[in-house]
Amino acid sequence: MMTLLKTVRLTGMAALAALALGSGVHATEPASPEKITNFEALNMSNGLAKTPPMGWSSWNGFGVAINEKLVIETIDAMVENGMRDAGYVYVNLDDGWQRYEGSREDHPLEYDPEKFPRGIKYLADYAHERGMKLGIYSGPGKDTCAGYTGSAGHEAEDAAMFASWGIDHLKYDACCSHVNESAEVVRRDFLTMSKALIAEKQDVVYHTCHCGWTNVWEWAGDIGANHWRIGQDISDDFDYPENREQYYFDVLDMIDRGVELGRYAKPGQWNDFDMLIVGLDGKSKTLVGAGASNIEYRTHFSMWAMLASPLLVGSDIRDLDRYTLETLTNKEVIAISQDALGLQAEKVRDDGDHEIYAKELSDGSWAVALLNRNGTTVDMTVSWKRDLGLQWERATVRDLWDHEDKGTYDIPYTVEVIGHEAKILRLSKPAN
Ligand code: GLA
Repeated sequence: MMTLLKTVRLTGMAALAALALGSGVHATEPASPEKITNFEALNMSNGLAKTPPMGWSSWNGFGVAINEKLVIETIDAMVENGMRDAGYVYVNLDDGWQRYEGSREDHPLEYDPEKFPRGIKYLADYAHERGMKLGIYSGPGKDTCAGYTGSAGHEAEDAAMFASWGIDHLKYDACCSHVNESAEVVRRDFLTMSKALIAEKQDVVYHTCHCGWTNVWEWAGDIGANHWRIGQDISDDFDYPENREQYYFDVLDMIDRGVELGRYAKPGQWNDFDMLIVGLDGKSKTLVGAGASNIEYRTHFSMWAMLASPLLVGSDIRDLDRYTLETLTNKEVIAISQDALGLQAEKVRDDGDHEIYAKELSDGSWAVALLNRNGTTVDMTVSWKRDLGLQWERATVRDLWDHEDKGTYDIPYTVEVIGHEAKILRLSKPAN
């Protein structure tokens, strides 16, 4: 574990009923002085994130090189290019917004006035005025993964500060500080912040991030978390031959790691396959990886939607090409991610490099992904009887990237899938 931690740091990181009491308070209102203290009487669910959160997060593209200008320009770009209207409303500051490096025992937690001259509340107001939300980052350690002051011992104080700023999302990161801690300690420390957030009676989506070191998914929902990472950091690779630097997961690794955890995903509680690498093109200031092709990024995006992972874009929104924007704003694929049933797709067929993933949707239709992990083009076939267990005589097949109905069939549907592509289909039962 220590070796892993060292690697993490060296790479710069590249190292309630349902809180009925608390929800509904608009995030920009000042925190109520009457705080909640009787947690035992509450269901710890905050009632938020009924569908996987969508937005942008600063880490994958920018690392700690973040500032007010970047955030404002990102919000403006998301309004302008249609992303906000497609559902991407969270704009999340990751590590690097803090003023001080070092231990919380030696420094307070404040924003860096050089990076954020008008402060964080200014940005939250700016986001709210445009129908968006602002997220922030801290952790239960004395310091964070990138070495800035953490929240250890100051949880209530920090939650109150975030509330006074109007923060809507908190990524609470124990990836480095708690790498060697037991699940009990990790749970205790995530719970402390959960209670502190709930006490503020504001709507804050809570991300408990522990890089998969402990099985956070088994209990995080019960302590009020809305999403939790299922593994270590993603790298900007679709398929890298081995676990990069014994730490980073490529897209296929991440899918393999999280696909068995589907039973933990439900409205308000999501397995987080990590922030998206779509459009990074190897230009990340912090992630390793040489980038992926357009089709590989599209497959990655489609699979995150199938797996009901949060969709937090990591690339530079101010500089997206047309293909990437089309990928990120495909309303039919986003509808698969945001479906009200809140299921994570299961792998229903595995023929080596050719896999089928499927999940039922709230209108009774099914989302199906035909994933070709291999670089060579193949024909793939889905049978709703054999693969999905449906007794339908016929099925209507729609291709969500072609935006086209492909017909109604009484035999299994076969389609050509190019290397590293995932065909995303919606199968529905015809009326008669
Ligand atoms: C960890 C997390 C990353 C990012 C960095 C910030 O590595 O897994 O997503 O938040 O810390 O330092």
